[in-house]
Amino acid sequence: MLSARKAVQQMHEYHPPLAGRKGLRLDFNENTEGCSPRVLARIREITADDLARYPEREPVEAIAAAYLGLAAEQVLLTNGVDEGIHLLCEAYLESQDEVIVVTPTFSMYEIFAEATGAKVVRVQCDEDLRFPLGKVLTKISAATRLIAVASPNNPTGGVATREQLLTIAKSAPGAALLVDEAYFDFHGQTVMSDVGTQPNLFVARTFSKAYGLAGLRIGILAGPREQMPVVRRVSSPYSVNAVALLALPEALADGEYISSYVEQVNAGRTKLENELQRARIEWWPSEANFVLMRIGERHREFVVAMRQRGILVRDRSSDPGCEGCVRITLGTGEQTERLLAAFREVVAELKLGAEVSA
Ligand SMILES: Cc1ncc(COP(=O)(O)O)c(C=O)c1O
Repeated sequence: MLSARKAVQQMHEYHPPLAGRKGLRLDFNENTEGCSPRVLARIREITADDLARYPEREPVEAIAAAYLGLAAEQVLLTNGVDEGIHLLCEAYLESQDEVIVVTPTFSMYEIFAEATGAKVVRVQCDEDLRFPLGKVLTKISAATRLIAVASPNNPTGGVATREQLLTIAKSAPGAALLVDEAYFDFHGQTVMSDVGTQPNLFVARTFSKAYGLAGLRIGILAGPREQMPVVRRVSSPYSVNAVALLALPEALADGEYISSYVEQVNAGRTKLENELQRARIEWWPSEANFVLMRIGERHREFVVAMRQRGILVRDRSSDPGCEGCVRITLGTGEQTERLLAAFREVVAELKLGAEVSA
């Protein structure tokens, strides 16, 4: 009988809870209002000929590289950050290698690493969910081949500083360090300018979050000039489709759209944080478009009660160190007002936090 590789047999299928997402989508950290109108206008101009051709990635890579201040050889466009992670695992991991991930975090690092048969070494964030630099450094060994750090991290919203990230890169010269900057736009700090000088540093960006293009599946993997040809070897030349390639230059050109959206999200985040403070619900400072909070034992009821009010939020209770936690994405100013009104009602109804019971 046909059987999969042992490493694959041991894996579980990953099914993000996407079914029945009717309502205000504050559950997947997507953009909640849609992409720039300029992007949509460009997509509407697409012709049958555009779709009949195999997509040509390189010219758009040159545009993305110029946007990032990098050389074209340092940049690979990918089918979302997910593909960038997959390619790094394919290019660098042997079954005896180790991959360090800082938990709780985005699940695809573990999934793609496990598929290669490599050993995943989990480093749990400190109690306050801060980045545990010291613990990461102690886990680096001769077998470490990949270290994945999301900054800002999902689901915590916490960050690793540039100094911390460079310390890791220098402490593990035989490993690829992937800094996943999927939420860069909301934070504004980056290690992209270190890509040319740090020989094992890769940086990933996505257009699925601030840019509102999760459905197009497009991301960027930037890395050292000497390493990127190796990564390209394991990539399909057509993994980024023609529609995404035609849309990307417009998305990059409309900086105004991104700043205005990010401004609203970040203002909303402060409002939500103030509300949590008032209700005395534990939460963690975030630099992304979401906030993680500890609702406690009634976390499931909280998610249901929000859904009944037309607002989708994400239960993160099963993430390590996140018992009773829920993550809420922020959107436009108007959506934040809707969120806060529902949140106050649910907090009162379920008698959460300290304010209500006082
Ligand atoms: C840290 C992080 N990286 C990557 C992704 C996925 O990015 P993409 O849609 O580009 O594959 C997510 C999505 O939730 C994320 O939270």
